[in-house]
Amino acid sequence: MIFRGAEAVVEKIEWQGSSAISKVRNKRSYRHPDLEKRLVTERLRSESRVIERLLSGGVLVPALYEVNVEKSQIIMEFLEGITLEKGLRTGEYKKYLVSTAKLLSQIHSLGIVHGDPTTSNFVISDDLYAIDFGLSTFNDDAESRASDLRVFLESLEAHHSEILGREIFLEAYSVWNSSKEVLEALEVLELRGRYNLMRG
Ligand SMILES: Nc1ncnc2c1ncn2[C@@H]1O[C@H](COP(=O)(O)OP(=O)(O)O)[C@@H](O)[C@H]1O
Ligand SMILES: [Mg+2]
Repeated sequence: MIFRGAEAVVEKIEWQGSSAISKVRNKRSYRHPDLEKRLVTERLRSESRVIERLLSGGVLVPALYEVNVEKSQIIMEFLEGITLEKGLRTGEYKKYLVSTAKLLSQIHSLGIVHGDPTTSNFVISDDLYAIDFGLSTFNDDAESRASDLRVFLESLEAHHSEILGREIFLEAYSVWNSSKEVLEALEVLELRGRYNLMRG
């Protein structure tokens, strides 16, 4: 087993002769079973639709092998490599930050907001890949895109305070020709966050 989070059990398995990742969404027993089933199914459908859209748009994400709604399971390509979280602790961190910014702007340009772009939701294999679309939505608001940037920057600060990743990341994101509005929305979000912090 690789990982048991609050939302899913993620395992490495064999699938038709090659390595794959199985992700099974947990049932949350405190909700009504019918509602629960509908929510899990909806999330699963949306996660696989997002992956398909990104794949067809040429974004680096794991190939989708199988979706099993009955079992609440997604089977996808296993990416041999390390998480970005680990990669950022190597001498190559600048390169990885630039790749992450580029990848996130590609995702945004396809009308998708990742929803949870922390440093453990990117895998460095032959190249940098995005994973974990369990909270992703089809959305092209500047505010939602900015919230993606904020989640990433906060996870950078939490795990990699030793590096000045923020500037490198934002500069690389700003290369995208629709980034201006998003970066402005990020400023607003962060100002509001600081104001609320100040007021307690
Ligand atoms: N396709 C994949 N290839 C390699 N490792 C993966 C893959 N998908 C997930 N993982 C590993 O499993 C961990 C948890 O998977 P993730 O999809 O992020 O689930 P969760 O919703 O529990 O965070 C990731 O941080 C990563 O280390
Ligand atoms: Mg994850």
